[in-house]
Amino acid sequence: MIVARGLTKRYGRTLAVDNLSFEVTPGVVTGFLGPNGSGKSTTMRMIMALDNPTSGTTLVNGKPYAELAWPLREVGALLDAKAYHPARSAYDHLLFLARSNDIARSRIDEVLDIVGLTEVAHQRAGKYSLGMGQRLGIATALLGDPGVLLFDEPINGLDPEGIRWARFLLRDLAAEGRTVFVSSHLINEMSLTADRLVVIGRGTLIAETSVSEFTSQSVLDAVRIVTPMTDIFMAALCDAGAAATVETDGSIVATGLSAAQIGELAADRILTLHELSPLRGSLEDAFMELTHDAVEFRAGGASGSRTGAGSSTLTRPSTRHHDAHSRTRTNPKERR
Ligand SMILES: Nc1ncnc2c1ncn2[C@@H]1O[C@H](COP(=O)(O)OP(=O)(O)O)[C@@H](O)[C@H]1O
Ligand SMILES: [Mg+2]
Repeated sequence: MIVARGLTKRYGRTLAVDNLSFEVTPGVVTGFLGPNGSGKSTTMRMIMALDNPTSGTTLVNGKPYAELAWPLREVGALLDAKAYHPARSAYDHLLFLARSNDIARSRIDEVLDIVGLTEVAHQRAGKYSLGMGQRLGIATALLGDPGVLLFDEPINGLDPEGIRWARFLLRDLAAEGRTVFVSSHLINEMSLTADRLVVIGRGTLIAETSVSEFTSQSVLDAVRIVTPMTDIFMAALCDAGAAATVETDGSIVATGLSAAQIGELAADRILTLHELSPLRGSLEDAFMELTHDAVEFRAGGASGSRTGAGSSTLTRPSTRHHDAHSRTRTNPKERR
């Protein structure tokens, strides 16, 4: 279990993390999602006591990190894929960490095997690719067999097969009852990996919710209409109070009325319909919409929003959704 309460971090004039509160619970993968520069790494460093909060607290299993007797056995983290000495081998890197926390030597071979580095375990780590560095970082996090795991953008540098492997590993670790907190700026990746989401922008909490809830809340209710009677249809939509635009392909995209209401309207006015389809916003759209005001740097003029879907009804959830992780898992290794 990880808890952040009123967490704030200032670097000079930059407010990197702004009064952030959230909980990460065991048994599920929690995605920590936000655009680049939104404060994810800073938050994770504060959880691991690598940075001091300006104010607020973080707790791992109910204690500040500094009070954990054997920290590597309670919480493992991959925060920086290059956090090893380049002249040391993966094996020696893990050996010195194991000694520091009284971890059995046999565990080193286990974690090297889990991450697939057994064959290169005695090569200088400085020669490793970014992907191999990530795998060594994951091995390091797993070394103490901890119940709480943090991974900061772990799939950076992995090839597609590695990404799939990492995704299954995170899900397996959560299914064993562990607390798994993984950051990413990629919503689509998170929708495949995570069960819950903590979404931040500019250091503040935007949403704390389940992936399914995030998706369903994020549906942009626009309807696409294909008709040979474009002008008359546009006028009818306007009369009925909808907002509508004609797209470059000649179709109409309308908001403010449901597909059913538009179908009724067409029947009433005897308007020919060739196609009537609700448009669902993609997760990417939802994420862009949610974090629109929270992106630190943006390329000039390029707005990610989709034409004709301007009246989305995204709202910040007013309540926390604790039900999302109430699924029970039968596992002998149930952890806190
Ligand atoms: N050590 C630091 N010194 C000064 N500013 C920092 C430092 N670390 C992060 N920042 C700033 O804090 C903000 C959040 O950064 P970061 O936590 O790295 O975001 P993310 O991991 O979400 O990309 C950014 O504006 C970044 O430039
Ligand atoms: Mg980061």
